[in-house]
Amino acid sequence: MKVTIFGSGYVGLVTGACLAEVGNEVICVDIDQGKIDRLNQGEVPIHEPGLDSLIERNRASGRLRFTTDVDEGVAHGLFQFIAVGTPPDEDGSADLQYVTAVARSIGQRMTDYRVIVNKSTVPVGTADRVRETVSAALVERQAKLEFDVVSNPEFLKEGAAIDDFMKPDRIVVGTDNPRTTELLRAMYAPFNRNHDRLVCMDIRSAELTKYAANAMLATKISFMNELANLAERLGADIEKVRLGIGSDPRIGYHFIYPGCGYGGSCFPKDVKALERTARDVGYPAQLLQAVEGVNERQKLSLFDKIRAYFQGDLTGKTLAIWGLAFKPNTDDMREASSRVLMEKLWAAGARVRAFDPVAMEETRRIYGERSDLMLCDSPEAALRGADALAIVTEWNVFRSPDFDGIRQALSRPAIFDGRNLYDPVQLRALGFDYYGIGRGESISKV
Ligand SMILES: NC(=O)c1ccc[n+]([C@@H]2O[C@H](COP(=O)([O-])OP(=O)(O)OC[C@H]3O[C@@H](n4cnc5c(N)ncnc54)[C@H](O)[C@@H]3O)[C@@H](O)[C@H]2O)c1
Repeated sequence: MKVTIFGSGYVGLVTGACLAEVGNEVICVDIDQGKIDRLNQGEVPIHEPGLDSLIERNRASGRLRFTTDVDEGVAHGLFQFIAVGTPPDEDGSADLQYVTAVARSIGQRMTDYRVIVNKSTVPVGTADRVRETVSAALVERQAKLEFDVVSNPEFLKEGAAIDDFMKPDRIVVGTDNPRTTELLRAMYAPFNRNHDRLVCMDIRSAELTKYAANAMLATKISFMNELANLAERLGADIEKVRLGIGSDPRIGYHFIYPGCGYGGSCFPKDVKALERTARDVGYPAQLLQAVEGVNERQKLSLFDKIRAYFQGDLTGKTLAIWGLAFKPNTDDMREASSRVLMEKLWAAGARVRAFDPVAMEETRRIYGERSDLMLCDSPEAALRGADALAIVTEWNVFRSPDFDGIRQALSRPAIFDGRNLYDPVQLRALGFDYYGIGRGESISKV
């Protein structure tokens, strides 16, 4: 099948590469000339495990191409995927300018029937807006052409995106006619062989399903963080509580890890956008407001503990930070908790020595060269000359470090563990001042 994908980011590239891998002819279109040049030179602009070789193989076979040429893109695919960004607008709603721009481009150029598949996360009603935009562009050029709009939200997880796309839990397809459902079923057949994973529904329900999934996951995290903060004040250990509730199959072990807040390109913006949608229809979504509010507060938790530990004065202090990406196995720093921590530390007059296995280049791109940020080439190097260590991302490489080495390198034996990687009892026995999230000992007690 011929497929065009607008947007060559995390979602567009993974979708394009996976659809090419099963034999489709795919063209990825992006407006970012630099990104397309890098892709055409065999460079993959993002870190996603397995993506490099997948792109390389399919590029070499000619099934996957990259271009900025919109004419070529619209002429090519029966399926026109929209996988562009939908960042938050100033009021928290999803900014749909990129989605509408693609819709307009398609309407201005199409010469044949097209299936427009929306993969971007968009508010309920966006498919109608896409349809109106395409229709308006067709009317302008007095073209009478048929097209369909489908909502096909994406559920991949950065860091495991290829696997998620190749072996999806479900493929949500929102359409308003059986013809497009069958076309989508045919396109997804290679990913749907083991058992039927297609969940077909009306378009609005499909659009809302994506927000519901992210809002539910964010709610689980904020709930656990709320409980962790309580545990800290009550002398309980949230990790014990986690095991105690996770064993209940109605609750489950997934997504109930307490920590220093969720980040990334999806949860924060999608919870905000859904809350904004609710407000627009006159419904105050109290739970969603709380989920977001708890998370924003949680992102400050490491800084608050560090500041309390140093009796409110961080001037001239140096913090080693392990982990900058918003989660392991990605270089994505959007809304990362590390950014809140670093910015608070800098504002308080502290310096940062940081290490991340893959997000250093992204950190440099965001913050540039600055005297209070030293990007180090190993976890050990980040410790040199530091007063204390903060862990923000739970990369595997941080799970079993040389604790003696850490204690010797730091001027104070303090570890602020934003992901509860270590055992507080063991760490205290090793002579550390150890502060996790919700581990029964609030800093004021020390
Ligand atoms: N990143 C994720 O894990 C994830 C998962 C599921 C859904 N989503 C959703 O998918 C969408 C894309 O997310 P992403 O993380 O891939 O974004 P991204 O920012 O990584 O990539 C978006 C790309 O779209 C390009 N673009 C913008 N306007 C364009 C246009 N008119 N034509 C062609 N390209 C254009 C940009 O240059 C950019 O390369 C968002 O709505 C997001 O919420 C993301």
